[in-house]
Amino acid sequence: MDLGLRGRTYLVTGASSGVGLATTELLLAEGANVAACARDGRRLTEVVGRLAGADRAATFAADVLDTTAVQDFVTSAADRFGGIDGVVNNAGRSLLASWTETTDEQWRAELELKLFGVLRPVRAALPWLSKSDSAAVVNVNAVLARQPEPRLAATSAARAALLNLSNTLAVELAGSGTRVNSVCLGLVDTGQWRRRYEAADTDHGFTEWAAELASDRGIALGRLGNQDEVAYPIVCLLSPRASYITGAAIDVDGGVARYV
Ligand SMILES: NC(=O)c1ccc[n+]([C@@H]2O[C@H](COP(=O)([O-])OP(=O)(O)OC[C@H]3O[C@@H](n4cnc5c(N)ncnc54)[C@H](OP(=O)(O)O)[C@@H]3O)[C@@H](O)[C@H]2O)c1
Repeated sequence: MDLGLRGRTYLVTGASSGVGLATTELLLAEGANVAACARDGRRLTEVVGRLAGADRAATFAADVLDTTAVQDFVTSAADRFGGIDGVVNNAGRSLLASWTETTDEQWRAELELKLFGVLRPVRAALPWLSKSDSAAVVNVNAVLARQPEPRLAATSAARAALLNLSNTLAVELAGSGTRVNSVCLGLVDTGQWRRRYEAADTDHGFTEWAAELASDRGIALGRLGNQDEVAYPIVCLLSPRASYITGAAIDVDGGVARYV
């Protein structure tokens, strides 16, 4: 099936690794243009430059927490490609800390990243999104938004706030023709989990360690997901084929969520 993405332009934040990189790769493979950002511009340019279709990608060193940098990223992307059809708000990380361990500063940083890291790119892209005949925003979220974990106190609360904000945006932006959806991840094998494995005091190889993790967390499919398994639903939600889907949150979690 043709997803209808050829010639369209998408912004992807946090595109140098994991889910963001896989989404960039898939969008390029579908014939779209991609404007990608991450804080480390050198790493971003290097990894995106290796993808098939890299001549349709533009890379920008930008921190989603920096309003000016985000505005420059979005304006440069629109100038380069002549418009913007969608935004994938993916940049982020989680804070492994219980409620008692989390400082006020860390609470603020989590909320800043999860809320303003989404608000700013959407706000900056809105003038172009409203001119697209099929505009879409996808917010990369986590099942933590609805199933908080004690060891991820601030991240869980910030994820819940982002899910709530996504529904507000879906309603408010519907009038200007922009759909807003979320993908809620469980445990996906990306840079994040590789870093946690390296920090863990274990004699196991990554595969064995990840299998134990999947069992401990009760993942129904018995394994961590991979980044391509997240990129496909993101790209499907961006596609004009998903024209009647807005305000939805799709769990991509191998069955770890226990809520109904
Ligand atoms: N992997 C999982 O199990 C999982 C689960 C739930 C939710 N998520 C969420 O999914 C998203 C992608 O995660 P991932 O696992 O693919 O992580 P990853 O492999 O660590 O990649 C994170 C990407 O975001 C960029 N980034 C981080 N902070 C940024 C900022 N302030 N401004 C711009 N770019 C920034 C990083 O590049 P720089 O460091 O160069 O900026 C990198 O490109 C994140 O929002 C994460 O919280 C992941």
